[in-house]
Amino acid sequence: MDILALESSCDETSASVVSNGSKVKSVVISSQIEIHAKFFGVVPELASRAHIENINPVIYQALDKANIKFEDFSKKIDVVAFTAGPGLAGSLLVGTIAAKSIASVYKKPLIPVNHLEGHLYSFLVENRVTKPPFLGLIISGGHTELIIVEDFGKYKILGGTRDDAAGEAFDKVAKMLGLSYPGGPIIDKKAEKGNPDAIKFTRPYLKGTWDFSFSGIKTAVLNYLKANPVKDENHLNDVCASFRQTVIETLCFKAFEAAKEFNLKQIVLGGGVSANSLIRKMFIETGRKNKIKIFIPSPLYCTDNAAMIGCAAYLKQKKCGLTYNPSQLKPNPSLVLEKW
Ligand code: KG4
Ligand code: ZN
Repeated sequence: MDILALESSCDETSASVVSNGSKVKSVVISSQIEIHAKFFGVVPELASRAHIENINPVIYQALDKANIKFEDFSKKIDVVAFTAGPGLAGSLLVGTIAAKSIASVYKKPLIPVNHLEGHLYSFLVENRVTKPPFLGLIISGGHTELIIVEDFGKYKILGGTRDDAAGEAFDKVAKMLGLSYPGGPIIDKKAEKGNPDAIKFTRPYLKGTWDFSFSGIKTAVLNYLKANPVKDENHLNDVCASFRQTVIETLCFKAFEAAKEFNLKQIVLGGGVSANSLIRKMFIETGRKNKIKIFIPSPLYCTDNAAMIGCAAYLKQKKCGLTYNPSQLKPNPSLVLEKW
């Protein structure tokens, strides 16, 4: 089954052709980083305008890269999938309208996908076959969620962030340090050259819950910088390394505690922050020590992309069939994970 999938929930316009839920025939991602960088965050109105401009070229390129001519669409594509939420209302609307239009012109079934399910199943994009149950940790600019995936489409949400998402904390601390947006990859790079033990920021473990809180670390960095303004590049690298260590250790501690508590032998990471080089090392090493298998998508599939949406759509139709009526499908900015 070949699926044309669209993703437009935030600031990436992406289209992908995915075969049988794992083989990516093409994936095209148009990033809006340049547009939003000067505001140090995504400006919703600018994002939806950019999606409108980008969506058609991105779809054409994805089909072209998959060697599919538009006139052969009916023969070559079986299903259209799109991100239905959560995300920015205007951004979601652009992908939804494009998907609905293509599906109705070519009379193809249409599958709405929850963006979080895309991140949860993105490790399958590269055919790293595993089966639930597993613990999912989604860490991105908008989300920090700890979820037990009992089966595909069957979830138990353990906890989430009480304030900033993990990626948001990286982006805000980067802004404090005078670095550009998005801050996660920049802090990550500088941290590689710094000393993670240079500054001791308190770890916000929030004992007794599976929730996270990152705004305290952000304030701790701010207070530290007021008392100790950055004096040179080495100092900057140390602040980045110490901050990164604090956030990643907190995520790692909670995830492994949850895996132990619920006797889960597999942990899956997804979302932009899982591209972080320290999180990849720390999870793999801690997983080896605790005999827990770790699945992390390659960096391309950690951040927002349509291939993960195609993958989640494939799993969904396998379980539920193709019963979606295009006229009833609407984007939902606050969409929650639901049972299939
Ligand atoms: O999944 P994503 O592309 O979009 C959302 O759904 O939010 O994640 C973007 C977030 C940004 O906050 C960015 O700073 C963060 O992921 N990020 C990273 C790294 N690469 C991206 N954070 C830490 N280390 C990285 N290497
Ligand atoms: Zn995302």
